[in-house]
Amino acid sequence: MVEMSEVRSFLGCGTPSQWIDAALVNLPTLLIDHAHCEKKAASTALNLLFRYVDRRNLLSKLSQLAREELLHFEQVVELMESHGIRYDHMTPARYAMGLRKHIRHTEPEKLVDTLIIGAFIEARSCERFEALAPRLLENPETQHIGKYYQFLLKSESRHFEDYLTLAREYSPEPIDNRVNTFREIERELIESEDHEFRFHSGIPAKN
Ligand SMILES: [Fe+2]
Ligand SMILES: [Fe+2]
Repeated sequence: MVEMSEVRSFLGCGTPSQWIDAALVNLPTLLIDHAHCEKKAASTALNLLFRYVDRRNLLSKLSQLAREELLHFEQVVELMESHGIRYDHMTPARYAMGLRKHIRHTEPEKLVDTLIIGAFIEARSCERFEALAPRLLENPETQHIGKYYQFLLKSESRHFEDYLTLAREYSPEPIDNRVNTFREIERELIESEDHEFRFHSGIPAKN
């Protein structure tokens, strides 16, 4: 079981308080985007299952991960319905693209980078659930969401660990340098101003 302190120290920064404040006044957007993120997490894992059929540990870990993400997706949609929020299309955050554009094009580097990015996305999600939960629990109307976010911490921290373990396994060399590179890119995406509020957006721009 991964400790939250391990997840936090993996990341280059904590979630800025401005983002937390924005999340509390943009709950419908947060939940709709959260539902999309769960679906996207399942789809990313499935794509890897199709692309790397000869990697035994990847197949078993990511197959389980994809199932869990789809279950989360169903749970978030239910949570939205119970709060009267209608599921809708939403443009993605700049976050995932901002990370993925740095993926190297040769193998196995491409696989290793993709897995490291997976670890960062899971770690950030986990850190945001932890930061949001106490604030959501303060209000009787959002308590339900806070409890659900506390529950999600456990699976998302396991996903973080799984991605990191796979990245180490399939890399021909230590992954520390690549992890440091992506830590810096991720930190920049979280700490710079962002014009759109999303689950993984940066500091809300004043405009
Ligand atoms: Fe999830
Ligand atoms: Fe996850």
